[in-house]
Amino acid sequence: KNIVILISGGGSNMAAIVRAAQQGDWAGQYGARIAAVISNKADAKGLQFAQENGIATEVLDHKAFASREDFDAALAQVIDRYQPTLVVLAGFMRILTPGFVGHFAGRLMNIHPSLLPAFTGLHTHQRAIEAGCKFAGCTVHMVTEELDVGPILEQAVVPVLPDDNADTLAARVLTQEHIIYPRAVVNFIKNKS
Ligand code: GRF
Repeated sequence: KNIVILISGGGSNMAAIVRAAQQGDWAGQYGARIAAVISNKADAKGLQFAQENGIATEVLDHKAFASREDFDAALAQVIDRYQPTLVVLAGFMRILTPGFVGHFAGRLMNIHPSLLPAFTGLHTHQRAIEAGCKFAGCTVHMVTEELDVGPILEQAVVPVLPDDNADTLAARVLTQEHIIYPRAVVNFIKNKS
């Protein structure tokens, strides 16, 4: 069972999943492996981590395509080469078209840095602070055609501290992301075994 992970930047969630797969021997336990890490940014730092861990990497620059649909169609073709059981969006900062989401329906997962359904969209930590939230967190969900909605698989909650800013809150949430995302992925794989 192949897992393909899409990133756009640091890829810390991707790295956490790769490490969990290594430490948990997902290959031996579930016949599951991280088959490729794909980015829309050639300079995504996560690509280096993937290469250092012997994982195939691909870059598809969205600026090289005439439309969102053209990019998504090309991306789907690249992903299909790996015949993935699961496609994991990990800090992948592109809104995907209904055609792409439909093609991977039921096997497309995302992590969002808020306690969905609160704070869909961007700048979630700043918005939580400005709203006076006492708690914040992260959500792993299956991807559907509506942005940041879809069946919730895992969540984690952290306190918002009085002196928090978006960066300090983001760091606290990110620590939890690295716990719940590997858990959601391995549970999905187990259910496919
Ligand atoms: C994280 O806040 C994640 O929730 C969001 O992208 C940010 C960076 O993720 N999806 P990563 O370090 O690139 O995995």
